[in-house]
Parts: sequence; structure tokens; C-alpha cells
Amino acid sequence: MSVNALMPVMQEYCDVAIGPLVPDDSAALFRWVNDVKSAGLDVAYRPVDGVAFNAWLGTFATDTSKVLFVIRKRGNPAPCGYIQITNIHPIHRSAEIGIRIGSDEDRGRGIGKAALKLAVDYIWNHLNLNRIQLTVLATNLRAIRAYKAVGFEEEGLFRCAAFINGVWTDVLVMATLRPPSNPSEQWASAAPMKLAIDNS
Ligand SMILES: CC(C)(COP(=O)(O)OP(=O)(O)OC[C@H]1O[C@@H](n2cnc3c(N)ncnc32)[C@H](O)[C@@H]1OP(=O)(O)O)[C@@H](O)C(=O)NCCC(=O)NCCS
Repeated sequence: MSVNALMPVMQEYCDVAIGPLVPDDSAALFRWVNDVKSAGLDVAYRPVDGVAFNAWLGTFATDTSKVLFVIRKRGNPAPCGYIQITNIHPIHRSAEIGIRIGSDEDRGRGIGKAALKLAVDYIWNHLNLNRIQLTVLATNLRAIRAYKAVGFEEEGLFRCAAFINGVWTDVLVMATLRPPSNPSEQWASAAPMKLAIDNS
């Protein structure tokens, strides 16, 4: 799909955009969910076959307690990652969030922080929730910094709670609460982020 067709359905911040998955994105997502090295930064690896992958994708179409966003760089229709919002709870007005930037070359350039800001903004302003929580491996310092950069705070630690590639790892609980004022206004007044995206 062309950039011109895609960009109107994307929310943008600092050269990063999040929006719906389009059919052309599926192959990249399939590769990323099966990336053993990246899985080790997040979850215990388990291969996801085509049937399981399509079933997982299908849940976003039918289950209103979850939302999937694909991350793109401005002016580039190729997906570079995805964000999952899950366990959207109508009574507690909370949800969980997870993110993956697909390839190593796209990491460490500010894309994760910008995409998270967009997703957090969406959660406050469109889902009208009050709390976002997540768990992250205590060894995943880049992810922890990305979450802190958009307002998440550490709430606790599950000791030796994950067994990743042969090693027991602590798991950190992080959360952010809805800010008292409109976050869009807060971010609009914040200094713009400097990204290091190469769109060539
Ligand atoms: C975690 C992830 C989303 C972060 O996104 P990113 O685009 O790579 O990170 P950013 O460039 O936005 O940087 C985020 C923060 O990490 C810091 N950072 C960048 N590279 C780093 C590195 N190698 N080690 C430690 N911190 C690093 C940045 O300086 C920034 O912190 P700051 O705001 O305090 O300066 C991304 O790396 C990713 O998807 N990794 C693989 C999957 C994963 O770990 N998902 C999270 C599971 S909970």
C-alpha cells in the first residue's frame, strides 16, 4: 500500500506513526513474532505457526479488550514494529501494553519512545482509561528507559519470575496513571524529540 493511502489513517508524532495493520504487513509481523533473539528480550520463545499466527491476528478483529497498532516511519509504508494494548478493562479502566520494534537497525533511534507516546495518548484520549501497566524483564534496560520516558514508573519486582533462554530473570512491574490535565496539551508544549531515522 502506498504512503499516500496509508498516512491518513495513521496518528503521527515526531516522524513516527501508528495505525492499523494492512494485509501487506502480515509477513513482517510473522517474522518478528518468530524472532528468537527478540523474544528473549520479552518472553519465553515459542514458535508461532501460520495457523496460530492468523488466529492471534484475528482476535484483534473480534475482541474489544485489545487493540493492535502497526508502527511506521513517516513517509515509509513499511511496518517497523507493533504495539499491543491488551486486557482493556471497562470497570477498572486499565489496560496492558507491549511493544516490539522489529529489526535491530530500527532500535535505539527514538522510534519506540515516540510510538509509545502515541499509544499512551490514544489510551487516555480514545479509550478513556485511567491506568496502563506492563511487565518487563529487569535486564531489558532499553525497554525500561523507553517506558520511563513516557511516564511509566516502577511499581514492584517479581524475583526470578521468567526463565529466558536458560536463565532465571527478575520481572519488573511498571505502570502509569492518567495525568490530571490533557496529555495532548502537555506533549504539544514539550520540546520535540530528536530522532535518528534514516528514511533513505
Ligand atoms: C524496547 C524498545 C521498544 C525500545 O524502543 P527503541 O526505539 O529501541 O528505543 P528508543 O530509541 O526510543 O530509546 C528508549 C530509551 O532507551 C535508551 N536506549 C537506547 N538504546 C539503548 C541501549 N542499547 N541500552 C540501554 N538504553 C538504550 C534511549 O536513550 C532512551 O532512553 P532516554 O529517553 O532515557 O534517553 C525496542 O528496542 C524493542 O522493540 N526491543 C525489542 C523488543 C522489546 O524489548 N520489547 C519490550 C518488551 S517489554
